[in-house]
Amino acid sequence: MNILERLGELGVVPVVKMEDSGQAADLAESLLKGGLPCVEITFRTQAAEESIRKIVAIQPDMLVGAGTVLSVPQATRAVEAGARFIVSPGFDDMLVGWCLAQGVPVVPGIATPTEALMAMDRGLDVLKFFPAEALGGIPMLEAMSAALPGVKFIPTGGINAVNMGTWLKLPFIHAVAGSWMVAPKLLSEGAFGMVSRLAAEAMVNVKEARQAGGQL
Ligand code: 3PG
Repeated sequence: MNILERLGELGVVPVVKMEDSGQAADLAESLLKGGLPCVEITFRTQAAEESIRKIVAIQPDMLVGAGTVLSVPQATRAVEAGARFIVSPGFDDMLVGWCLAQGVPVVPGIATPTEALMAMDRGLDVLKFFPAEALGGIPMLEAMSAALPGVKFIPTGGINAVNMGTWLKLPFIHAVAGSWMVAPKLLSEGAFGMVSRLAAEAMVNVKEARQAGGQL
């Protein structure tokens, strides 16, 4: 199974803004305890690169990706640190081209059909819909995806434990992603038990939504 298929199978991607790479081991362990063996570390902080490096070293079976990647140099650093997939908030052709050339799975963000077409033109069929709720949520993506057969989306931005199931029931949803399981406040308080509980709850939500959506 390839990496994007694996993300689709898991159904939910925790998006983490690490302020302190010293928390990387606890973060990875708490997600694994909750049954969630993947994580997206965003390049929104200085600690991102080192956090990826640490998680990859400590938990080699965990699927670690880099998020909020805005440029080729950033993607290069992320992949050198051990990131196995790249997520970007928007579509950057240079970045996507670099990832394709390196064989690194890339999920660019799109907010319009035009951007989706640019990504499809590059052969991509799993795209991030960002910022999902602010763009109009399910009605917006439903209308858009009707015109984009064969593409699956990872809605991100405003997804949480309450609304994730509604998204995941839809056939054009690959997985959902978001920061609610690993919110900055949880990290700053070192509330890793809560991270485990929220991750476990999210995994239950994935299963229930897919059963309800007839996908299991
Ligand atoms: C991202 O970086 O992908 C998003 O900012 C996550 O959005 P959320 O914080 O609303 O989950």
